[in-house]
Amino acid sequence: MKIILGITGGIAAYKAPELIRLFVKTGIEVEVVMTDAATRFVTPLTLQALSGKPVHLSQWEGMMHIDLSRQADAILVAPATADFIAKVANGHADDLLSSLCLARDCPLYLAPAMNRQMWENAATRRNIERIRDDGIHLIGPEEGIQACGETGFGRMTEPDDIASLMMSSLSAKTMLGKRFLITAGPTQEPIDPVRVITNLSSGKMGYEIAAAALQRGAEVVLVSGPTCLSSPYGAKLVSVGTAQQMLEAVMENIEGIDVFVGVAAVSDYHVVNRSGEKLKKQERLLLELEPNPDILKTVSSLENPPFCVGFAAETEKLHENARAKLENKKVQMIVGNLARDALGRDDNEVAIFTKEGVLKLPRASKRDIACQILEEIGKRIS
Ligand code: CTP
Repeated sequence: MKIILGITGGIAAYKAPELIRLFVKTGIEVEVVMTDAATRFVTPLTLQALSGKPVHLSQWEGMMHIDLSRQADAILVAPATADFIAKVANGHADDLLSSLCLARDCPLYLAPAMNRQMWENAATRRNIERIRDDGIHLIGPEEGIQACGETGFGRMTEPDDIASLMMSSLSAKTMLGKRFLITAGPTQEPIDPVRVITNLSSGKMGYEIAAAALQRGAEVVLVSGPTCLSSPYGAKLVSVGTAQQMLEAVMENIEGIDVFVGVAAVSDYHVVNRSGEKLKKQERLLLELEPNPDILKTVSSLENPPFCVGFAAETEKLHENARAKLENKKVQMIVGNLARDALGRDDNEVAIFTKEGVLKLPRASKRDIACQILEEIGKRIS
């Protein structure tokens, strides 16, 4: 996939390098086109280094406006200033980027960034309406504190969200109409009001699966234990603490679900003699633990269960344990990995176990692994 990233002259241009890094990381080719004003905020050299290609600055390099746009799957302008939006709304073509937008035969996405009063101004409102009518996609802006110190609408959407939204829009919609329910992250079992039993799960794998499903057009409910991650754009996030709360959230959302993916590292036990007050230091503390409900098994045992996928994080005998979980949990697929190779990391090495056999995937980023898991699910539910 190839996109043209247009950068115009606003302070949010400092986020453009991050945006390029995110695209390149997922294998998308990026051609950068900057307006003259944009070069005041971020240097072409930085963007050239990150995109691995020369940056286009001038419309006097030949028929660039036609050549470039013919090779692209999409044009994204981020940040798009009020002035640039006005130009696009009115069909101006007085520099390379605006000429490209006018001469394009691919979708155009604009991520506006400007002071809140510029955003609210009647002229901008008119331009935005016109842009929408012309079928141009708008990403954001968001509400928040602005570079000028004021608060309101006009902040550019964060690069992470722009990247995942673009990828969603441009990917083949192989999961359109499918509804996914995904559990992710650790659970926390209270010992007293300030202490919990938990584990080292970061939630990354579950969130990547949610993002991959959204990109393919699926509807996603993400039931998540506490993590530091932001919810993938478009997912319905239900935040929970304990395993019991996770089970309740899952059961509340299970109606009409086609695929259930249990990625959460659910605590196996909860504390029965949990204290209502903060425990004081003592010679010896005995905690009485009782097993938690098995969420995956509860779902797979429903009368009309969805397609169920479980995860098995093991420290030994991966194949034996994963196969046993495939049987015991009555699921269609188990994704197995060696826990010490995966916890908290951005990459992972997994094997996919099904009734038909095992598919070993090479070590890859959790994002790539999520895509491959989605492919395997797709083959079995279509
Ligand atoms: N799981 C669940 N509810 C639980 C425990 C596990 O839904 N109470 C799900 C996990 O989300 C994962 C799969 O079951 O998809 C396997 O989790 P794991 O912790 O590896 O399995 P356990 O059944 O807890 O077995 P053990 O800890 O003995 O290996």
